Amino acid sequence: MTLRHPPIMPGCDHLLHGGDYNPDQWLGRPDVINDDFRLFPLAGCSTFTIGVFAWARLEPVEDRYDFGWLDRIMDHMADAGHRVILATPSGARPAWLGLGYPDTCRVDATGHREPWRSRHNHCPTSPVLRRKVVEIDARLAERYGRHPALGLWHLGNEFNGECYCERCRSGFSDWLHRRYGDLARLNDAWWTAFWSHTLPDWNAASLGDESIDGMRLDWLRYTSDQTAAFIRLERDAVQPHSPGIAVTTNFMGAYPGLDYQRLAAAIDVVSNDSYPSLDLGHGLVDGIAEACFNDDVMRGLRPGRPWLQMECTPSVVNWKAGRLKRPGVHRLEVFRSIADGADGCLYFQWRKGAGGCEKHHGAVVDHVGHDRSRVFQEVAAAGRMLTALRPARGLPINAMVAVIHDWESRWAWAASQGPVQGRDPKRGARYERHVRAWHRALRRCGVVVDIVGPRTDLSPYRLVVAPGLHLVDSGVADRLAHAAAQGATVVATTLTGYVDASNRCHLGGWPGAGLRQLFGVWVEEPDELMPGDALRALPVPAAPLSLPGPIPASELAERIHVEDAAVCAIWDGQFYAGMPAVTWRQHGRGVAIWCAGRGEALETALAEAVVTASGAVRVVPRPPAEVWASERGAGCERVLFLFNAGEHEADVVLPGGAWKDLEDASVHTRMLRLDTLACLALRPLEEV
Ligand code: GLA
Ligand code: ZN
Repeated sequence: MTLRHPPIMPGCDHLLHGGDYNPDQWLGRPDVINDDFRLFPLAGCSTFTIGVFAWARLEPVEDRYDFGWLDRIMDHMADAGHRVILATPSGARPAWLGLGYPDTCRVDATGHREPWRSRHNHCPTSPVLRRKVVEIDARLAERYGRHPALGLWHLGNEFNGECYCERCRSGFSDWLHRRYGDLARLNDAWWTAFWSHTLPDWNAASLGDESIDGMRLDWLRYTSDQTAAFIRLERDAVQPHSPGIAVTTNFMGAYPGLDYQRLAAAIDVVSNDSYPSLDLGHGLVDGIAEACFNDDVMRGLRPGRPWLQMECTPSVVNWKAGRLKRPGVHRLEVFRSIADGADGCLYFQWRKGAGGCEKHHGAVVDHVGHDRSRVFQEVAAAGRMLTALRPARGLPINAMVAVIHDWESRWAWAASQGPVQGRDPKRGARYERHVRAWHRALRRCGVVVDIVGPRTDLSPYRLVVAPGLHLVDSGVADRLAHAAAQGATVVATTLTGYVDASNRCHLGGWPGAGLRQLFGVWVEEPDELMPGDALRALPVPAAPLSLPGPIPASELAERIHVEDAAVCAIWDGQFYAGMPAVTWRQHGRGVAIWCAGRGEALETALAEAVVTASGAVRVVPRPPAEVWASERGAGCERVLFLFNAGEHEADVVLPGGAWKDLEDASVHTRMLRLDTLACLALRPLEEV
């Protein structure tokens, strides 16, 4: 087990704090830039992401470069002891590129080529774009690759979207050819006999045709591969010139359009942009759950390894309801990032621009330009907190619980019609809700949770939960079986294992691909529950899994039959009466549990029972609702994180021994009272 990871930036043994800094927007105001350097230390900020959208300043005219301004900024940063996350500027194209080479602009699904505008809308296969990106990246890297201020490369920005131009479509045909080898296999995989869709050649697919629901999956796989290839292109352009400097790109939590499991292999450090809705009251609690989920997704891309909260807002965002972060909420957000395993928390943005569509987006420095704003002061306080939390830097989170979150299953849900889809206008949202509900229920038990992919190594986990893991091939089924055989408790829930990698239903009884044997159940029918449908799970006395009851289900349920498993709860309503709701089967040294329904009450009760059954260690025993707990490191080196996102004070029972607060050095034993919004980081006393 790794005790402490090396710093993300060589020589930076502290938690990173800073943000997106856009001096390129202020080149006509050297006084403002000078003032930024005065303000940086007052805000406790020393890490700055520069140049994300600065291509037009770096190469104002094709092949004419201007690095003078960046030279001065980089030198100034080095002199001041700050570090730069230097961006490649591929997130937005300058006019000479967008107007001069329309081929670089993306084509939408209707075949319409976008004009040069906005950002993040390039065609990833455009040869001219790729050549120009490599050129500017390499020049940046040659010039700054060994600069003392350089700490990390930031490739592009929030890669997203799809391009449907002729070239990207023909790339898809090639991709299909490589994947399937012969056309008959493709036709079989996509089940194209349906509605006379048999493809006569590799180029015949009518993209966007929703009637062939395996096609969408392959298109999104291809888009993910294409994006990963673009990231690698940029990585290969910069890395040879900058030994020891890692590369990252900023992900967007559980963004549905790209499989981050596929993308993560192209970068060294995982980074996230975090913009939950953090209204007080119920909104805050939900926002925290949303953000913690995304944090755990990020960490699960490289389990145990520190990651970076690359962006969050110091106050408001401009693209959704503009409620200010209430006092104390910002501290909680920064604290939460570190508690969830980040080695730093940075902002979008350092200073509000005077114009452009993000001029009202929250920033450390407001238009007023000084340090006496509430937001600036909260950021400065967060900086002091990060200094105190420094002992947590590099410590891994050693999760014993994993939740499987799979982009391909999400896409399969989204592409399919029927109970998987429900009446959700947002396709695939039902899957996301399902996985998030399980994650929240588990974290409420006081365990740390990695959110992993179906192909992640499951050996570190005592408990593996696969909520609605719809798409399962034999490889994934074997991994689940292996985890159980080795002693893990493996839980699968309704809609798991219905389809194969092409979104074709498994034949011969669900769950397929071997899961029917693993769980010892046959799923006969999935059902969509309506609001008035009263269906409850009743615990079976003396069953191997002890559940409280009755537990209401909502949204989804299944009529299942036990073939080789014990029944832990049965349904009590309607024509379900007496059918199994929760089952339990010993497999090797572990257990395979099936839950044939959905609903918050069911997830809450079952999470509590399976955490206990699996032996996964809780950070604190049964924390009160809305107190979130996590732990980094192990033994005397560990740091315990607690925060209260609820509206009321809450008492937490600490693990044995005495604990010392990293911020104010107060000592706590046994019981701790947490005010609303309180955040505490504690270390075992002996080591402090
Ligand atoms: C994203 C982008 C930033 C900025 C913020 C605003 O995270 O990466 O450039 O637009 O959104 O919230
Ligand atoms: Zn294209």
